[in-house]
Amino acid sequence: MIHISLSSRFFFSLWAIFFLAFPQGEAVSADLTDAPAILLVAFGSSMPEAQVSFENIDALVREAYPDHTVRWAFTSHLIVEKIREETGKTLYSPTEALDMLKEDGFTKVAIQSLHSIPGEEYSDLAHIVQGVEGLDIRIGLPLLASEQDVERVADAMLANVPVERRAQDAVVFMGHGTHHEGNARYHVLKNALVSRDSNVFLGTVEGSPTLDDVLAGLAQSDVENVYLVPFMSVAGDHARNDMAGGEPDSWNTIIAGHGYHCVPVLKGTAEYENIVGVWIDHLHVAMQSFN
Ligand code: CO
Repeated sequence: MIHISLSSRFFFSLWAIFFLAFPQGEAVSADLTDAPAILLVAFGSSMPEAQVSFENIDALVREAYPDHTVRWAFTSHLIVEKIREETGKTLYSPTEALDMLKEDGFTKVAIQSLHSIPGEEYSDLAHIVQGVEGLDIRIGLPLLASEQDVERVADAMLANVPVERRAQDAVVFMGHGTHHEGNARYHVLKNALVSRDSNVFLGTVEGSPTLDDVLAGLAQSDVENVYLVPFMSVAGDHARNDMAGGEPDSWNTIIAGHGYHCVPVLKGTAEYENIVGVWIDHLHVAMQSFN
């Protein structure tokens, strides 16, 4: 679930650039601290190519809330620790980021969960927040929070499929998946996708539906070409290696081994404005709850 494989100079210099652009702990004037701060919380990624997702969310949130302080925190302890060791203190856990906001004089914080489902990462975050004193905190829900979100995300992801894809080509979405009960959201999303297009499939790396479920579905179809598309906020290690990579156990290799022509698409869901819009609408709900 947590992947730290890269530690090149190149990789960390990119991280440094991103986080220098969005500093934490800057001097904050009193009129700014009256308004709720926004804390964006993602799992994190060990791959520099994934940063485009974070940058896109950051830009769209700042556009929606130009007069608010916007900061980031990451729920993957391993990624936070690893990058901190290599680059100095640039990444923060949710607890640390909330402490810093409190020290800077904020009393209200809207946290936006940038997770895909209400799973373990989200429930840990909600638990952490319960233990914080001295801050009025509201949490915006993850991507697939409601039935309505699922329908909207299904429409959006189908709209985001490359235009070259023809109706007789399959689209296989790769979700993360989890042992947590929140995994059920992947099944709900899969059903919403299939009801729109019978050549669309969804599998997960660590939960269900599985790759075998996807292969069984493909076997019943007439497709020859398969677009492989991440259903994860970033096109990081899972997308680049487990989905699109050349190893014997990648989806690309296995699906091609069944006779299909695979076309991997290396874009995370957070690179699409129509998906980020769902998270931002959840942030709106959190922000409006202060009024
Ligand atoms: Co993982």
